Amino acid sequence: MEDSASVAISLRDVRFSYRTSKPILDVPSLEVPAGHRVFLHGPSGSGKTTLLSLISGVLAPQKGSVFVLGHELTELTASARDTLRGSKIGYIFQGFNLIPYLTVAENIGLPCELHAPRRRRITAGSIAEEVKRLATRLDIHTHLSSPVTQLSTGQQQRVAIARAIIGSPSLVVADEPTSSLDTDRRDAFLSLLTEITEETHATLLFVSHDVTLAPHFDTLLSLRGINKLAEGETA
Ligand SMILES: Nc1ncnc2c1ncn2[C@@H]1O[C@H](COP(=O)(O)OP(=O)(O)OP(=O)(O)O)[C@@H](O)[C@H]1O
Ligand SMILES: [Mg+2]
Repeated sequence: MEDSASVAISLRDVRFSYRTSKPILDVPSLEVPAGHRVFLHGPSGSGKTTLLSLISGVLAPQKGSVFVLGHELTELTASARDTLRGSKIGYIFQGFNLIPYLTVAENIGLPCELHAPRRRRITAGSIAEEVKRLATRLDIHTHLSSPVTQLSTGQQQRVAIARAIIGSPSLVVADEPTSSLDTDRRDAFLSLLTEITEETHATLLFVSHDVTLAPHFDTLLSLRGINKLAEGETA
């Protein structure tokens, strides 16, 4: 049995249903050691995004324990969960969730503006410098002052990636982050994500349909393997 400091994510007997629907998740056990890189796959509709929302404290389960980065989320208020997520979790949403009235640079720098722990962890001299460094590595540096709405889908995805990894969060959660990238950019993104998570010893939970990405990860999990209720389209 590992001590709590070496466990990034631990779920026990978690049951979840959306208000009006039938139960979606019944997860007896899920354990992710700190620093591990986990690839989670499963068919559309099987509950991957729902599980990520529970782990990042956006949703709360009806039953069970969700222990993340040293905190039992079910014992925290929604606002305490928001603070924990903002400081320690970088989340790449399936639909990006960029702020449409901000520029590319403002979107990327936002977690550091909002959360002091993220700001303190940057190694560049300023937030603007760190934004530029990450944007250059993701090849979006020429768009930094553009409104984010003027970017292509693949470019917006890279903005979402930069925003998630700025300020070295302990846990990076990525929901289908490579679906709009071409092969070269997908490989560049995975190398950058590997480099950054290794540098900062971050835990990575990465969801994708694309099982050809699995060799980049330590652990391969199937949602159907961990969720007793998993349905969804045939993969
Ligand atoms: N806000 C919601 N209210 C009610 N039901 C929902 C809601 N969000 C998702 N569901 C249902 O929960 C189930 C799991 O959805 P979820 O989005 O977690 O799947 P997924 O594995 O991420 O799918 P995809 O690969 O298409 O993104 C589906 O049956 C879906 O219809
Ligand atoms: Mg999803």
